[in-house]
Amino acid sequence: MSRRPAAADWWRQAVVYQIYPRSFADSDGDGVGDLGGIISRVPYLASLGIDAVWLSPFYPSARVDGGYDVDDYRDVDPQLGTLADFDEMTARLHGCGIKVMIDIVPNHTSDRHAWFREAMAAPKGSPARDRYIFRDGQGPDGAQPPSDWPSSFGGPAWTRVPDGQWYLHMFAAEQPDLNWASREVRDDFLATLRFWSDRGADGFRVDVAHGLAKNLAEPLQPLPAEPDPGEQPVRHGAHPLWDRDEVHDIYAEWRQVFNQYDPPRIGVAEAWVHPSRRPRYASPDGLGQAFNFDLLEANWECGEFLRVITDNLADAQQHGASTTWVLSNHDVVRHATRYALPAQDHLSSTRNTRAWLLSNGTSPELDRGLGTRRARAATLLMLALPGSAYLYQGEELGLHEVADIPAGLLQDPAFLRSGGTEKGRDGCRVPLPWASDRPSFGFSTAAAHLPQPAWFGPLSVEPQEHDPASTLALYRQALRWRAKLQAAESLEWMPGTNGQVLHFRRPGGWQCVTNFGPRAVPLPRGTVVLASSPLPEGLLPADTTAWIIPHAPQ
Ligand code: GLC
Repeated sequence: MSRRPAAADWWRQAVVYQIYPRSFADSDGDGVGDLGGIISRVPYLASLGIDAVWLSPFYPSARVDGGYDVDDYRDVDPQLGTLADFDEMTARLHGCGIKVMIDIVPNHTSDRHAWFREAMAAPKGSPARDRYIFRDGQGPDGAQPPSDWPSSFGGPAWTRVPDGQWYLHMFAAEQPDLNWASREVRDDFLATLRFWSDRGADGFRVDVAHGLAKNLAEPLQPLPAEPDPGEQPVRHGAHPLWDRDEVHDIYAEWRQVFNQYDPPRIGVAEAWVHPSRRPRYASPDGLGQAFNFDLLEANWECGEFLRVITDNLADAQQHGASTTWVLSNHDVVRHATRYALPAQDHLSSTRNTRAWLLSNGTSPELDRGLGTRRARAATLLMLALPGSAYLYQGEELGLHEVADIPAGLLQDPAFLRSGGTEKGRDGCRVPLPWASDRPSFGFSTAAAHLPQPAWFGPLSVEPQEHDPASTLALYRQALRWRAKLQAAESLEWMPGTNGQVLHFRRPGGWQCVTNFGPRAVPLPRGTVVLASSPLPEGLLPADTTAWIIPHAPQ
């Protein structure tokens, strides 16, 4: 029954589990997760039935932006382990048939990177400064920044250095942007890709993939207006900073390196671009895959899901890449919480949810039960779709956002740089609960680096292992069935699809039906192998997904 893709295409319909290493498992008792922690949990990862892991950055870093401020791209942060630990982790994961994808952060280094230190010590106009984006300021004494560009984390995107010049940082000041017009920068990243590929990395998640090519011709261009919350990014191509066509020349070079390996390495672009611009990132001559964040941005609403699925599958078919599905990651409010909000247009978009949480904290209006129920239904729907699915650690436990971390303990530069008006992303990065009755819920022997709430207890791995109705059990069963039923990358919409119900069939007869509510509806004919909630009286109740096959399971 199982239809395994060719070895080189392992990623096309892979389920990839994102590990945020500092919050996954701690092996040395310092309250920060590490590679040793991941090694100790390889059996758990294998038990999930995933095809690959993607590790957020584990490189040496001051952790100003959770490790996305990299000091050295070819080493492991001593707090997280050593290169030998990376090798052991990779060998153990490979031994269980799990591929390893790592995060590469090419838009910016940290301000502690040897290159930036050199640039700071070097004079204006020097080759060392040319690896970054240094400019003179405006005004008679150059005291005004070179342009009014804002950083994505709030505040200006330029910081002044003692000799009077300014450098560009689209994120925190500790994350200076690299100059990708520099051949040296390009070659160095090619060397980094080879370094990790030689060590066994199977693929790369490319951070801010749409930001590397910039138009820095003088005078610097003003930025077009940002879209309103809930709206799609603008169809760019001519924006001075984002999604410029030249960025694909860079990925064409990366592809040459990827193809020197067997199987070829794969890249997945984190590119927050208009959907029509996504295929170029996912081209076989480029990175190969690009995140599709449309489901993540959609409200829990039948019509929105239908549109997102239809559009993305059509896109994928037209361009030859497989699509990717994401409901949660380390940058957004967990989907169980997004779906727990009071019904309101566009509230589910992660930006709006965060704003809502900021103003409401843990208000009783947050209906956790409903959020969990919908999250389970959404996950089962996502896992039945053609293409690859990216899961984020903790979603398999049904974790919600931790919305009430005291301000003094928040770490995210988005919170700090916005003067507290942006809640930040710490609420989805709280260390995982492994056991209900151990210090820091079995994450570490010390207190976790972000505080874990008491309600993590019953959501820990260990009690869920013993509960066949748990979310963990649902994920495991879903992945087992998915592997068995895996089919060609297409689906057929069934006549049951209407304004309340989504119903489709994959080649081979695997059907998925989701009721977005509010009334229970009849189930299609066949054998139900899995459902996200109980099915009273043989009906599909509100906010529930079921998987159905034409015959009894073997
Ligand atoms: C990406 C990462 C995010 C990080 C930012 C800057 O969006 O996912 O966590 O803060 O890039 O590197």
